[in-house]
Amino acid sequence: MAPAPQGVREEPLLDCRSGPLSRLLFLAQAVFLLLPAARAGLCPAPCSCRIPLLDCSRRKLPAPSWRALSSPLPPDTASLDLSHNRLSNWNISLESQTLQEVKMNYNELTEIPYFGEPTSNITQLSLIHNLIPEINAEAFQFYPALENLDLSSNIISEIKTSSFPRMQLKYLNLSNNRITILEAGCFDNLSSSLLVVKLNRNRISMIPPKIFKLPHLQFLELKRNKIKVIEGLTFQGLDSLRSLKMQRNGISKLKDGAFFGLDNMEELELEHNNLTEVNKGWLYGLRMLQQLYVSQNAVERISPDAWEFCQRLSELDLSYNQLTRLDESAFVGLSLLEKLNLGDNRVTHIADGVFRFLSNLQTLNLRNNEISWAIEDASEAFAGLTSLTKLILQGNQIKSITKKAFIGLESLEHLDLNNNAIMSIQENAFSQTRLKELILNTSSLLCDCHLKWLLQWLVDNNFQHSVNVSCAHPEWLAGQSILNVDLKDFVCDDFLKPQIRMHPETTVALRGTNATLTCTAVSSSDSPTSTVWRKDSEILYDVDVENFVRYQQQAGEALEYTSVLHLFNVNFTDEGKYQCIVTNHFGSNYSLKAKLTVNEMPSFLKTPMDLTIRTGAMARLECAAEGHPAPQISWQKDGGTDFPAARERRMHVMPEDDVFFIANVKIEDMGIYSCMAQNRAGGLSANASLTVLGMCAALWVPALLGTFL
Ligand SMILES: *[C@@H]1O[C@H](CO)[C@@H](O)[C@H](O)[C@H]1NC(C)=O
Ligand SMILES: *[C@@H]1O[C@H](CO)[C@@H](O)[C@H](O)[C@H]1NC(C)=O
Ligand SMILES: *[C@@H]1O[C@H](CO)[C@@H](O)[C@H](O)[C@H]1NC(C)=O
Ligand SMILES: *[C@@H]1O[C@H](CO)[C@@H](O)[C@H](O)[C@H]1NC(C)=O
Ligand SMILES: *[C@@H]1O[C@H](CO)[C@@H](O)[C@H](O)[C@H]1NC(C)=O
Ligand SMILES: *[C@@H]1O[C@H](CO)[C@@H](O)[C@H](O)[C@H]1NC(C)=O
Ligand SMILES: *[C@@H]1O[C@H](CO)[C@@H](O)[C@H](O)[C@H]1NC(C)=O
Ligand SMILES: *[C@@H]1O[C@H](CO)[C@@H](O)[C@H](O)[C@H]1NC(C)=O
Ligand SMILES: *[C@@H]1O[C@H](CO)[C@@H](O)[C@H](O)[C@H]1NC(C)=O
Ligand SMILES: *[C@@H]1O[C@H](CO)[C@@H](O)[C@H](O)[C@H]1NC(C)=O
Ligand SMILES: *[C@@H]1O[C@H](CO)[C@@H](O)[C@H](O)[C@H]1NC(C)=O
Repeated sequence: MAPAPQGVREEPLLDCRSGPLSRLLFLAQAVFLLLPAARAGLCPAPCSCRIPLLDCSRRKLPAPSWRALSSPLPPDTASLDLSHNRLSNWNISLESQTLQEVKMNYNELTEIPYFGEPTSNITQLSLIHNLIPEINAEAFQFYPALENLDLSSNIISEIKTSSFPRMQLKYLNLSNNRITILEAGCFDNLSSSLLVVKLNRNRISMIPPKIFKLPHLQFLELKRNKIKVIEGLTFQGLDSLRSLKMQRNGISKLKDGAFFGLDNMEELELEHNNLTEVNKGWLYGLRMLQQLYVSQNAVERISPDAWEFCQRLSELDLSYNQLTRLDESAFVGLSLLEKLNLGDNRVTHIADGVFRFLSNLQTLNLRNNEISWAIEDASEAFAGLTSLTKLILQGNQIKSITKKAFIGLESLEHLDLNNNAIMSIQENAFSQTRLKELILNTSSLLCDCHLKWLLQWLVDNNFQHSVNVSCAHPEWLAGQSILNVDLKDFVCDDFLKPQIRMHPETTVALRGTNATLTCTAVSSSDSPTSTVWRKDSEILYDVDVENFVRYQQQAGEALEYTSVLHLFNVNFTDEGKYQCIVTNHFGSNYSLKAKLTVNEMPSFLKTPMDLTIRTGAMARLECAAEGHPAPQISWQKDGGTDFPAARERRMHVMPEDDVFFIANVKIEDMGIYSCMAQNRAGGLSANASLTVLGMCAALWVPALLGTFL
């Protein structure tokens, strides 16, 4: 290591601190000889002056040469740059009343430099890329005015409780060190002033609880550390934090309440981690969050109530994750969302209405997923996206576009459908949008009469130059751009795509019985054809399906495909909407959805019992039944609905209760009471007799006899 330059010195190398007269003289010389300012004597020899900057960087002088700086610095020097000089320490006192900023980046400093008296006025100190191994409070005691400290790229390994004295630091950069440990309370002495802390590229694996008691901090960066788990309440005490960046840590678990207390946080960046789920637990309390970036993780699931706290979110990036399905509740509550990126996942299932809450969404990116049926089926997948201007569906498996596909997209201007191998597009598919840009690239088009409209439409809307669309079928048009196909050549002399002729029918079955659903399609193509069944939009695997093919001559030569779905011993869980999808090389066709209802006859859980009581007492009759759907219970007296007790308001029937009361029983209440349980599958009844004995039985005998005879 080079010998340390010493602070106190008598003789400067070049006398540039003389009185006003000699300074004038030097000035005059400078003017006459057109010497650069550096040689005019105003500047310490090793440096150049661009006041307020005194630039002494890249001089690489031996240590003694720097003593030149101990003479008074040029007046109004505010900033001193000593970067790139291989200095290993600095204890030369400077003379300046104006110095505020010092840079000593790219040296070999092993400790915090000291500049004599002016140290106490320095507000900015930059020591990037040195060899400082630790920070301690003693060194900073000379810097009471310091606001901005950059110690990035040193070799600091821990931040201790004693690292900082009480000081007014606002910006602290400790990135790219070797920090493994943050001692409890290590930032406490900076709590009244810190605004920005950067700890990127360190080796922190654990954030101790309550380490950040920094009520003014607005920006915190912890990128590229080794934090795997974040415990609840870790960031409590950061009431003003607006932005937290934690990319590339390998975080796999955010415990419930991980960000609790960050009541003002607007931006949370978590890209390149290992998160598997987005849920309410870790988003707890983030009421001001506007930007959430979770790209490049392993997210498989968005839990149903995930966004309960984050209703101000305007931008959400979940690209490059493992999402396979967007369930109906995936985006509930995000009514202010403007940008949603779901690109590069594996989404196949998009639930009906999943986007209906996103009325402010402007950009939706779904590129490079595995979407096909969600859009091909005549469901209105994007309904509700009334503000959407840009939709990216590039790189999916969409083969056909129905006229309902973009219904509801009344603001859509940009649509990207590239790389989907689209075969057919129904007329009017884009008619409800305001398309200005259509990116469409397919060489798979089925150029039959159904596509005739497209040519004219592309020309009318001036899209003929932005699209690259060519036919694959019929064979004699294969490879031709549709822009070159003659209108009369778009003919339908066959029907290659499957056409569904018989849809499955809505069915009611009793529990325990067998049910079947049938679907028939025809196609003039002999390309391999398959049928799958879906229940509530989910593919049914492991079900019993019988498929038949037969040659059919009526209505043109065609093959007729029949698929029968057998549901054995049905139970309530089999209820739902069933649909068949018939697919061949030329595309898919989707049947209507048939509803299966599974019923079960009512059966009694409790039946009323015969009862004999005295007048004035209370009669209690019980009755309860089960079945599917839940049976309704009703009562009759002697086969009718005339209840003397009801007229006198002595009767109580609770709709949800299985008990029936008659208070203060009278003789006229006597009779056969029937409890009837009824649902769609059927009904049954149970009888009980109510016998009432008078106070003076003898008196009532004739009446009794009268009733029974
Ligand atoms: C600077 O050097 C002087 C004299 O060599 C010494 O007394 C003083 O403690 C040093 N100051 C620092 C902050 O290292
Ligand atoms: C610090 O700055 C003030 C004015 O901003 C000045 O009066 C004072 O002399 C300076 N102190 C030192 C040690 O340079
Ligand atoms: C804060 O600074 C004081 C001196 O200014 C010091 O004694 C103390 O150890 C520092 N740390 C904490 C946590 O107070
Ligand atoms: C360290 O952070 C401060 C404060 O945000 C910033 O001004 C500075 O440029 C950063 N240093 C480096 C090397 O990026
Ligand atoms: C992410 O988690 C998986 C499984 O838990 C693990 O195999 C993988 O190494 C992790 N990746 C990172 C970058 O931590
Ligand atoms: C068009 O699609 C083909 C394959 O379908 C792809 O290789 C090509 O890059 C796409 N062109 C553009 C401009 O996207
Ligand atoms: C159109 O697409 C075909 C194949 O997909 C490609 O060979 C051709 O270069 C494309 N033309 C333009 C103008 O992009
Ligand atoms: C499905 O087949 C029917 C005829 O059964 C046809 O009208 C309809 O356009 C087809 N759907 C698609 C998306 O091709
Ligand atoms: C349901 O089908 C199975 C298998 O074919 C058969 O054994 C069973 O008897 C059928 N059940 C009814 C209620 O028809
Ligand atoms: C039918 O469903 C009910 C409730 O959903 C369940 O308790 C019962 O075990 C099921 N029966 C069979 C045969 O799966
Ligand atoms: C129950 O009583 C009614 C008349 O009160 C009668 O029609 C019906 O057959 C009786 N049912 C049974 C199961 O006894």
